[in-house]
Amino acid sequence: MADTFEHISVLLNECIDNLNIVSDGIYVDGTMGGAGHSSHIAEKLSVKGLLIAIDQDEAAIKAGTDILSPFGDRVKIIRSNYSFMKEIIAGEGIEGVDGILLDLGVSSYQLDTPERGFSYRDEDALLDMRMDNRMEKTARDIINDYPEEELRRIIRCYGEDRYAAAIARNIVKAREEKPVNTAGELVDLIKKSYPAKELRKPGHPAKKTFQAIRIELNSELKVLEENLKDMVELLNDGGRICVITFHSLEDKIVKNIFRECESPCTCPPDFPVCVCGKKSLGRVITRKPILPTEEEKSINKRSHSAKLRVFERKLQ
Ligand SMILES: C[S@@+](CC[C@H](N)C(=O)[O-])C[C@H]1O[C@@H](n2cnc3c(N)ncnc32)[C@H](O)[C@@H]1O
Ligand SMILES: [Zn+2]
Repeated sequence: MADTFEHISVLLNECIDNLNIVSDGIYVDGTMGGAGHSSHIAEKLSVKGLLIAIDQDEAAIKAGTDILSPFGDRVKIIRSNYSFMKEIIAGEGIEGVDGILLDLGVSSYQLDTPERGFSYRDEDALLDMRMDNRMEKTARDIINDYPEEELRRIIRCYGEDRYAAAIARNIVKAREEKPVNTAGELVDLIKKSYPAKELRKPGHPAKKTFQAIRIELNSELKVLEENLKDMVELLNDGGRICVITFHSLEDKIVKNIFRECESPCTCPPDFPVCVCGKKSLGRVITRKPILPTEEEKSINKRSHSAKLRVFERKLQ
């Protein structure tokens, strides 16, 4: 097991700058992880400020509690899914917040802990991939129970793997003999599905499929899509939400929802006045996403696919 919570925060300065932190404001980090972003937010708060740091992962909660302990009452840590942010905020007796951060996906700690079964590198690890270990379903249930078409769709859509059909077929064939339980077994099936010339290319052939299964198991896109607008609505006037994504479908969801929040009017363009009554929630700050610098990419491999989008709330 990875013994310390090793995780290099992605686009850290860019998030802190864009959150426009005021010292007595209220902030929410919906994906605290190793508290890299959270500790930088907390540092900027006075005793009147508050950071609510949320994560669904037990290990992240332990690590975050240690790392954020010097900030005392300025930080409140809550183990939950960020989909409950609205309820969490209300439960604290808070009506609106001044900034929200989401740094999506998994932490390096989760990836690097073999028992968590996220990594294609740990051959003997049982496929698990739950961010929240209170959940019953694991990656093994997806691999061994999903119909072939569903496996193919997930691997194609969430993994963007062009050999999805062959991978799904080989998984189904293998599990007719015996269940596919370990990372090593799944890696072998993926390799078998790849043409030999593809296997000689750089990059691990299993990366995309493992990512796809993880996204499906943890409902990552669904949770984002169903809750992002509610989070925008939680912001006080001038408050900002920063979202870091690592996958093109995730980025597309953020881009589209931010755009709808900015211009929600659904009236036909030739209507002289708006009759749908849908009011803008604010403005998109990032017409184009903010990307990591070459320097950040050279230090942190995980940052390569990162994109940061920012939205600012404006009360009408
Ligand atoms: C990329 S890491 C965050 C790293 C953190 N920003 C840092 O700098 O240390 C993502 C974290 O979000 C958590 N997470 C992902 N989706 C979540 C969700 N829907 N609700 C709560 N936590 C979630 C994961 O468990 C993981 O710890
Ligand atoms: Zn309208």
